[in-house]
Amino acid sequence: MVTYGSLFPSRFTNPIDAMQKSASCSGSEQNTVTPITRRAMAAIPDTFVFNEIGPVSTQLARLNQSPAVKREARMDVEAFRSMVQDRRSVRGYRIDPVPREVIEDIIDIARGAPSSMNTQPWHFHVLTGEPLDLIRQGNTERMVNGASPQREIPLNHGYEGAHRDRQIEIAVQLFESMGIAWEDKERRRDWAMRGFRQFDAPVSIVVTVDRTLENDAVGHFDCGAVTYGLVLAAWTKGLGCVINGQGIMQSDVVREHANIPEDQVIMTCVAMGYPDDDFVANDVKSTRRPVEEVANFVGFDG
Ligand SMILES: Cc1cc2nc3c(=O)[nH]c(=O)nc-3n(C[C@H](O)[C@H](O)[C@H](O)COP(=O)(O)O)c2cc1C
Repeated sequence: MVTYGSLFPSRFTNPIDAMQKSASCSGSEQNTVTPITRRAMAAIPDTFVFNEIGPVSTQLARLNQSPAVKREARMDVEAFRSMVQDRRSVRGYRIDPVPREVIEDIIDIARGAPSSMNTQPWHFHVLTGEPLDLIRQGNTERMVNGASPQREIPLNHGYEGAHRDRQIEIAVQLFESMGIAWEDKERRRDWAMRGFRQFDAPVSIVVTVDRTLENDAVGHFDCGAVTYGLVLAAWTKGLGCVINGQGIMQSDVVREHANIPEDQVIMTCVAMGYPDDDFVANDVKSTRRPVEEVANFVGFDG
């Protein structure tokens, strides 16, 4: 078992104190402390460092950096609220292409997402034109021919209880907006096929994770964070998106045409484009559980 005591000179209580002392002292004292600290840091398992004191490398970096800019409010709260609350999934697009520079800027914004220990395990494969059409075609053919889904990450097979209720609720909202009767199997199937075609969006961004984190829920969480960043950044630029699990339902088709390297695993894709304002399902606003239902506050009442 690694302890601070076994790694650091006894006069320092933890590695960060040691580093701060080492940075502030001078001459021979600094020379004695720094090599011990560095050796000790190299010996500390990552989880230990992170769990006990926060990432040492970050703390070290901070010693060499100017203080963070502090402001009362970092942006207009109401602007942020409306960005989050007005955004909705877009499932009908204009055919207009999305300029590459616009997507580069969206990714530039989204890459600011946090990730576990700043691992940033994500990659983005931005597709348009022929490769995307080949994926739509391959996906559709397979689904029409009854192929079972081929996803690369573990998948829950059917929601239950409240999850199932909410799944039905959004489906009903979408079908009602489109005038699709629940009994109308053919039109429901057509709707599903639109999803497999990535809603005919001009762009699809396939999000992948490093294969070393294939079964790591935290790495998947990181990809979720960055993907939401993409969607919000796109929304601020007047673009619409839908995170679209259906689009990667036949992941080997996506892998082939998007040329995904073997050391990456496909997580999801994001259909993106300029919204078709006449497409009624784009007006659907899904519901959200209220704060008092999703949050449990502890220790606030006295
Ligand atoms: C991981 C993930 C996968 C999704 N896959 C699909 C999909 O395959 N087809 C679809 O129409 N919507 C898909 N969605 C969009 C959700 O249905 C949508 O986000 C949810 O109903 C809330 O609606 P909103 O995005 O309009 O707020 C997906 C969303 C997420 C986060």
